[in-house]
Amino acid sequence: MGNKICVDAGSEYCPCHLAKSGDCISCSLLSGKDLCECNLKGICIYQNFKKNNEKISDAREGILCKVLKKKEIETNVYLISISIPKYLAHELIHPGSYILLKDKKRKDDMFNSPISVMNIDFKNYILDIVIESLGPKTKDLLNSDTVFIKGPYTNGIFGIKYFKKLKSKKVLILAKGLSSVTLVNAVNNLLKNNNEVRVFFDNSGKKIQEVEKILKESNIDIKHFDFKNNENIIRKELKKGVDMVFSAGSNHFNKNTMNIVDSIDTTISLAITNNNLICCGEGICGACIVKIKGEKMKTCKTQIEPRLYLKEALK
Ligand code: FES
Repeated sequence: MGNKICVDAGSEYCPCHLAKSGDCISCSLLSGKDLCECNLKGICIYQNFKKNNEKISDAREGILCKVLKKKEIETNVYLISISIPKYLAHELIHPGSYILLKDKKRKDDMFNSPISVMNIDFKNYILDIVIESLGPKTKDLLNSDTVFIKGPYTNGIFGIKYFKKLKSKKVLILAKGLSSVTLVNAVNNLLKNNNEVRVFFDNSGKKIQEVEKILKESNIDIKHFDFKNNENIIRKELKKGVDMVFSAGSNHFNKNTMNIVDSIDTTISLAITNNNLICCGEGICGACIVKIKGEKMKTCKTQIEPRLYLKEALK
């Protein structure tokens, strides 16, 4: 499968250590092939790498940030507000942005937790995230008053290209549970391009009221219902004419969304949350690998076509 798209390609984090080790995701020449197979527009990763004497870009570094507030918003689910530097705030606004977070006392990166960006207050440079207390890493974070944040990472959504190209179109968002935290950045991005956005929440999942409050401030049309028993409401909405669907939920939820969408119109663009296990976020550890058509893909950095992902990786 040629032409893989690395979310970091052409960014300040490219070329990375994967270029040096011969494992570049996007450049076939820097992954052991003899011919250029990429169709990247703009910067040539290969030439950039060679021109700079095979020097790789500086990796993301953990920065120490103060936790300002913690509030339990659902059983074992906490809203955390963290003071962050201005530059980082502006780099975390993209759909699918996430960070790696660990308590300041932890030296070892195995304590890093990947956490989606929920919202950013640009007046005071405060990042809001939501953490569910699940195990040692998250419990550690919830007891912490100062944390190391590494970021930005941006592959929290598959189908980012649709967010980039959609202008003045109709978008339907289906969301359930904690994945709803990805909606703020996604909706802000869609509104910037004059898209009309409607949001349906499946009310059988955990509720993140704060997300809904923020969306209401942007006058987003919101509906709540139990999707399982009311799929026809979704079908009816799709039949009215929708250009893109963003499904924010578990893999099972996203697959179900795809099946409903495809039963109406297979040409509707589909974006989904990336729910894979992420550990290093840099393409090194392999924790995030899935097999697509027999090929191993590092999902922390590789954009995968959502329908292909749902059909192949979840077989
Ligand atoms: S999370 Fe380590 S390679 Fe993707």
